[in-house]
Amino acid sequence: MPMPSTGTAPCPDPGWTVLGAGAMGSLWAARLAQQGVGVHLLARQERQGSLRLRESADSAAIELPLAQHRLESLAHPIERLLLCCKAPDALPAIEQALPHLSNNARVVLCQNGLGSQQQIIKRFPQLDIYCLSTTEGAYLPAPHEVVHAGHGQSWLGKLHASDSDHSPELVSSLGQSGLRIQHDPQIGDRLWMKLAINASINGLTALYQCRNGDLLEGEKRGRLEALSDETRSLYRQLGMGFAEQIPRQVRQVCRDTAANYSSTYQDSQCGRATELPFINGFILQQAQAIGLTMPEHKRLLEELERRGIH
Ligand SMILES: NC(=O)c1ccc[n+]([C@@H]2O[C@H](COP(=O)([O-])OP(=O)(O)OC[C@H]3O[C@@H](n4cnc5c(N)ncnc54)[C@H](OP(=O)(O)O)[C@@H]3O)[C@@H](O)[C@H]2O)c1
Repeated sequence: MPMPSTGTAPCPDPGWTVLGAGAMGSLWAARLAQQGVGVHLLARQERQGSLRLRESADSAAIELPLAQHRLESLAHPIERLLLCCKAPDALPAIEQALPHLSNNARVVLCQNGLGSQQQIIKRFPQLDIYCLSTTEGAYLPAPHEVVHAGHGQSWLGKLHASDSDHSPELVSSLGQSGLRIQHDPQIGDRLWMKLAINASINGLTALYQCRNGDLLEGEKRGRLEALSDETRSLYRQLGMGFAEQIPRQVRQVCRDTAANYSSTYQDSQCGRATELPFINGFILQQAQAIGLTMPEHKRLLEELERRGIH
């Protein structure tokens, strides 16, 4: 059960607890701390000292006095949690955090793909949960150092309409970081569209070991289009009005991010588990539920599996 809130006087801005000291978690924590917002950064290991933030790969580092704590060492219940782990880690992380949440805690999920959000909402219907989608780009070139590689935009909202929607207050609080963020009452549509784009691009970049832009050429382009056509058929059948935009959006993202390596490519290069079960895997589950076959998505996952990428 969540911990009871302590104290009597409500704090004007309770600040944030960021769980996951990877690229995204470090970026949000650093940006909030830089602007004087109270922030606790949670990691698997305690660590005193500073976090270095770089505006870009070749800019000077700013040292921020930001320690990393373990959940167990938190002295106060969590009022606002920003969950910045990868999709497969999200449910276990919420299970761990649950005893440390205040009764009124707001939980913001910052995972790519879909499925982890639904798992958490189903498992913990009592929690006040929000989803965040972002085009910010960040990476950790060294321990405790984060590079803000791509300045983008974030959107936050509730996946399902609710009488108590605190999105505007959360957007305003996270916006103090200086990162661009706005409320999206249709965050679900945004996540589904991003899913369609990632499902066409990410797995293929891991398979061909290439940059996003390379998918617009030769044989790779044929497979890119076959994947996005299959996703369009699924979305049509699920009644999603934006289904027809998928192939064009996929090509546009390949062009706009031509020089980038997808997160799935990077995970596969480092031998880490990818988020594909929450991208193409989720798409296949949705298709199966309505009796639709998606041979291109299935073939892609099988080929990746044979190469030890999952
Ligand atoms: N990085 C980007 O530019 C970017 C952009 C858009 C969206 N995203 C999305 O944002 C999410 C996070 O991505 P990321 O790049 O920040 O991933 P990441 O660099 O792998 O960071 C995730 C962090 O969460 C930690 N973690 C997982 N479970 C934990 C737990 N129970 N307790 C404490 N720490 C835990 C991981 O620790 P361990 O390594 O010890 O497991 C890791 O440090 C993903 O869904 C990603 O797709 C990222």
